[in-house]
Amino acid sequence: MRIRIFWVLSVLCACCAALESATGGSDNEESRHTNNWAVLVSTSRFWFNYRHMANVLSMYRTVKRLGIPDSQIILMLSDDVACNPRNAFPGSVFNNADRAIDLYGDNIEVDYRGYEVTVENFLRLLTDRWGPEHPRSKRLLTDERSNIFIYMTGHGGDEFLKFQDSEEISAFDIADAFEQMAEKHRYNEIFFMIDTCQANTMYSKFYSPNILAVGSSELHESSYSHHSDTEIGVAVIDRFTYYNLEFLEGIEKDSQKTLQDLIDSYTFEDIHSNAGVRTDLFGRNLSDVLITDFFGNVQKVVVDNVEDDILYFTNNDETVKKPRPNTNFPSPKKNITRINTDIGTSLKSIQVGKTDSKAAAASLKAVLASAAFLSVLTYFWKF
Ligand SMILES: *[C@@H]1O[C@H](CO)[C@@H](O)[C@H](O)[C@H]1NC(C)=O
Ligand SMILES: *[C@@H]1O[C@H](CO)[C@@H](O)[C@H](O)[C@H]1NC(C)=O
Repeated sequence: MRIRIFWVLSVLCACCAALESATGGSDNEESRHTNNWAVLVSTSRFWFNYRHMANVLSMYRTVKRLGIPDSQIILMLSDDVACNPRNAFPGSVFNNADRAIDLYGDNIEVDYRGYEVTVENFLRLLTDRWGPEHPRSKRLLTDERSNIFIYMTGHGGDEFLKFQDSEEISAFDIADAFEQMAEKHRYNEIFFMIDTCQANTMYSKFYSPNILAVGSSELHESSYSHHSDTEIGVAVIDRFTYYNLEFLEGIEKDSQKTLQDLIDSYTFEDIHSNAGVRTDLFGRNLSDVLITDFFGNVQKVVVDNVEDDILYFTNNDETVKKPRPNTNFPSPKKNITRINTDIGTSLKSIQVGKTDSKAAAASLKAVLASAAFLSVLTYFWKF
């Protein structure tokens, strides 16, 4: 009799343990971020560097299309080619000789322009060291749950990137800024991409955790432009950026493509230089990292009263005092689809699938525990 009881109890325990590992173990490789940010930087001036601005504006268009709101994109443009007197298409910037998409035509929110694009401002931005008067919209307000995509383009060399033709940022400067960000819990993961000559030397000094880096060319290697537009008279996009964009054009918000797929798409035939990847600091297998973990926005489901607060939050200036919505009578105008895509991601997200399976596991565990208790009772009842 005693043996049978042990048998019943051990089967129940094994079930509980199995459940525990099934629910706890399945999300090891899933990203734990709750919000996405992008920092997009073009560091060169002058008309003949048109393509650097087109590179950055193309990335800007892509991250916006995939759902990162302007409030979470920091755009730094060191020159304004759109308004350059040499521009045959004033007010427009194109990244292709077909001129199908005017990158400047859409709503562009430039956070730092012209001579504001300096090494100092870039480093202050990353580490968030500003005076109290610095506007919130020009700050990188990330936290330990932020995934940040950082894209840089301009003229560079061995372990440096020029800013404005007058100063340089070194590979050490960026590495140290990232370390400060890690210490101040300013990110969950960083995806760093750089398109410049000898680009891969720029990530060689990184030493902080959870950073993935890609670059357009090796030490002693140039990066190349893709093609020119004869009427604009200059190259309109760089090769590495062009092929990244080509891949990203095929991505939608629900895409299951991974960063490994993106990196596998890089070829010397296309790029004309050896694109580099640095994965040793990064915690996850790239085959598990969705493109949308960086180029996109966390989708979320919110419960009723929170939702009303969110509507209030997005529809109103936060400085204006307003009574709290009455949560007993939820507004009929609620539109969850809209909320999911519109709202910035600073609010806590709930992943439905995960929550459901955890809740189910918890109730199953409760049932098993009661069964165990009952069988013990039955055992003693019999004696
Ligand atoms: C990453 O995952 C893929 C597919 O699951 C596997 O083939 C590969 O060996 C893994 N790579 C590493 C470095 O663990
Ligand atoms: C909800 O929002 C989506 C996206 O903006 C829109 O297409 C849809 O018509 C809206 N539905 C209602 C009921 O307002």
